Amino acid sequence: MAADGARPLTVVGVSGSPTRPSRTTALVEHVTDVFASELGGEAVLIELAPLLTDLGAGPYRSDLGPAAIGALETVERADVLVVGSPAYRATYTGLFKLFFDHIGQYALTDTPIVLTATGGSDRHALLVEHQMRPLFGFFQSLTLPLGIFANEGDFTDYRVDSAELSGRIEQTVTRTMPLLASHLRLDPRIAAAAPEFARPDWA
Ligand SMILES: Cc1cc2nc3c(=O)[nH]c(=O)nc-3n(C[C@H](O)[C@H](O)[C@H](O)COP(=O)(O)O)c2cc1C
Repeated sequence: MAADGARPLTVVGVSGSPTRPSRTTALVEHVTDVFASELGGEAVLIELAPLLTDLGAGPYRSDLGPAAIGALETVERADVLVVGSPAYRATYTGLFKLFFDHIGQYALTDTPIVLTATGGSDRHALLVEHQMRPLFGFFQSLTLPLGIFANEGDFTDYRVDSAELSGRIEQTVTRTMPLLASHLRLDPRIAAAAPEFARPDWA
């Protein structure tokens, strides 16, 4: 909580990998940190791997334990989301879908979302466009135009380690910040968190 009692702007990363350590988690964490830093907000990382059993407890949200409920609520409160999944059978993981199955139907309406994914090669890179983007279309979210796909060769010891990938992340941030700024300046909290993005007099 900010000193003036206002909730800080939060950028929440969600990694849909069932493994730990995970390249997807490394990518999501990296991108989340960059956006949080650019926006003067707080970065929060949610790994779904430890929630796997909990999320499978039943078909209804009321079946889930406190850790899964807490993660769902954190995502529903996010100001900006960075989501990521490894490619499994040319789409996002079942774990990723299972988590978002429990998100409220209108909880992510207009939430800006950065889409990311990793794969064994670049062969399934379009899963970002053909599978992830439609999922968040259902939620009426504001998916940002540039997604980020990385393959196993972009990582060393589960850290982002590729000039090309770093360049793509930088390009995404550069292209996305004006959109985020115009969207978030409608939020009065932005005035305190990042005055340069605050609502101008004419708005
Ligand atoms: C069950 C399974 C299915 C996979 N299917 C694909 C696939 O269809 N396309 C692909 O590019 N990589 C596929 N992979 C490779 C992973 O996407 C890749 O290794 C990814 O970077 C792993 O991310 P992680 O370290 O976050 O778990 C698959 C891996 C597993 C375990």
